[in-house]
Amino acid sequence: MSSQKQTYGDSGALYRRLLTYIAPYKAVFAVSVIAMAVTALSEAAFAALFKPIMDSGFVEPDSEFIAMIPWLIIGIVVVRSVAGFMANYTMSWVGRQVVFDLRRAVFDRMLHLPSSFYDRYSSATLVSKLIYDVEQTAIATTDALTLSVKDLFTALALVGWMLYLDWVLTLTFLVFAPLIGLGINKAAGRFRKSSESIQDSMTGIAQIAKETVNGHQLVKTFGAQQYETEAFERVNQYNRRQTMRKAAVAAAMVPMVVLVMGAALALIISIALERSGAEAITAGAFVSYLAAVMMLMAPIKRLAKINEKIQMGVASAHSMFGILDEETEQDTGRDKLEHPAGEIVFDGVSFAYEHSRFSAVRDIDIHIRPGERVALVGPSGSGKSTLASLLLGFYRPLSGVVRLDARDIGELTLANLRRQIAIVSQETLLFDGTIRSNILYGAPTGSEQRLQEVVKAAHVAEFVERLPKGLETPVGERGARLSGGQRQRIAIARALYKGAPILILDEATSSLDSVSERLVQQATENLAKNRTNIVIAHRLFTVENADRIFVLNEGSIVEEGNHRDLIEQDSLYARLYQTQKMEEQRIAV
Ligand SMILES: Nc1ncnc2c1ncn2[C@@H]1O[C@H](COP(=O)(O)OP(=O)(O)OP(=O)(O)O)[C@@H](O)[C@H]1O
Ligand SMILES: [Mg+2]
Repeated sequence: MSSQKQTYGDSGALYRRLLTYIAPYKAVFAVSVIAMAVTALSEAAFAALFKPIMDSGFVEPDSEFIAMIPWLIIGIVVVRSVAGFMANYTMSWVGRQVVFDLRRAVFDRMLHLPSSFYDRYSSATLVSKLIYDVEQTAIATTDALTLSVKDLFTALALVGWMLYLDWVLTLTFLVFAPLIGLGINKAAGRFRKSSESIQDSMTGIAQIAKETVNGHQLVKTFGAQQYETEAFERVNQYNRRQTMRKAAVAAAMVPMVVLVMGAALALIISIALERSGAEAITAGAFVSYLAAVMMLMAPIKRLAKINEKIQMGVASAHSMFGILDEETEQDTGRDKLEHPAGEIVFDGVSFAYEHSRFSAVRDIDIHIRPGERVALVGPSGSGKSTLASLLLGFYRPLSGVVRLDARDIGELTLANLRRQIAIVSQETLLFDGTIRSNILYGAPTGSEQRLQEVVKAAHVAEFVERLPKGLETPVGERGARLSGGQRQRIAIARALYKGAPILILDEATSSLDSVSERLVQQATENLAKNRTNIVIAHRLFTVENADRIFVLNEGSIVEEGNHRDLIEQDSLYARLYQTQKMEEQRIAV
């Protein structure tokens, strides 16, 4: 992140980059800018109107002109209203379009970021970027642009009129402009800093809120309310302080501008009155001039405030572009396998996670024949799930090669590689939707017969039959409305439905009772008969009939063989098996 902070240290570069998102809509944008210019001119026309009204209405009355005055005013108002509507509407349109595009870009990027990225960031950070940052950026592009362009035009038109009326006076007045500019510039830096801190604090709030909401039962059982309250208090307090710091600068800004403007006004009036003695300026011109100065106040006040919005947008854009600049998953492979047989080879594979001092797996040599049923067992943390992640291309080995049908998986496109593998991961993940949509996930148009087949095999049918809505039952967020075992069975059905040549079951039946576990296993075996099967399990009796069992310990393969061979040796496997068996008998007694 720090390197990106440097790259976008100056807001100019960031703004230019934001403008590239407006580029596709430049026609509408141009309409908007023209409409703003018209609005500004009509505003200046008002000030200008004071001159003839005074001179030809009061000083030397001209009845023809007096009759025209109401029409002139109405004309200006109509032009101003129409142009104002056009300006606001078109600019909002461009702005929302930009939000839409940015949000799509950020979401699209999230879909393609590597697993290592997700290891680094909390989900709340990412969600807040998608929701909060993109919105803030929109405010910068629309509100800020609308206000600044319109107000800038208005100010320019008014100053133009003032210069036309009396340039000496106007130049005197303009002396104050740099003073105001300087103040604004100084405040900008502060604004940006606090805007960034506010964003960080928002993320902190979202993070704690999310964890507490998701883990509300955990919080209660562990009596951790106090702990969470304090943690929340800290981020909430931090957010308040940062927001107040910003508010202080914002609040001081407008009075400062008014002060400077007031002083300018006093000066102008005294100079103008002195010069009016010398007949340099008519009464009408003077009134018109004053009107212009007064009307100048509003846009300048708004321009002084605009900075707040721009800085907020810049801070958000900065954070958002951070995601857009993240490198996506390396997908350099070009080849595709059509119908792989499912032969898998780990050839001297080693891998360590980022920022980890230990290798998660070391010198792994495994050769799995097509259609073979292989088990990976070993203590917790020994690297079993890591091997599955490597096979799926979520991480690249630091050394060695993983092959699928004799092809280095790095040569395959990620999509093609992953099409060949179905996995039931250790953490059962269901999406908010119905049981059916969860099973059909990723392949919504499959055959009904196949669906029924897998629903039966994974023993989903067993509990679905009792549900009034059957397969159409909503599962709730992350499957919250189902039991752990039911969730697992749906995940198994989902993997079976994919019908990939390779099936990985990572602790896929751990939440089932032993009887259901055996039943589900037999059924899956039947359904996945011609596929390569990799089963990861802690309960060893579930892998007894695997063709081969690989025992992992601290990232290395320490034993290999079928159940009978391993039991006969004095192996780690045999010891683990004995312990589990005794445990089971003890429970049975
Ligand atoms: N995303 C990650 N980032 C950093 N380290 C990780 C990550 N995932 C796993 N590890 C580490 O890698 C090692 C192997 O983890 P792995 O998940 O492969 O173990 P496992 O054999 O599947 O264990 P279990 O049986 O408990 O599921 C562990 O020491 C773990 O702490
Ligand atoms: Mg694991």
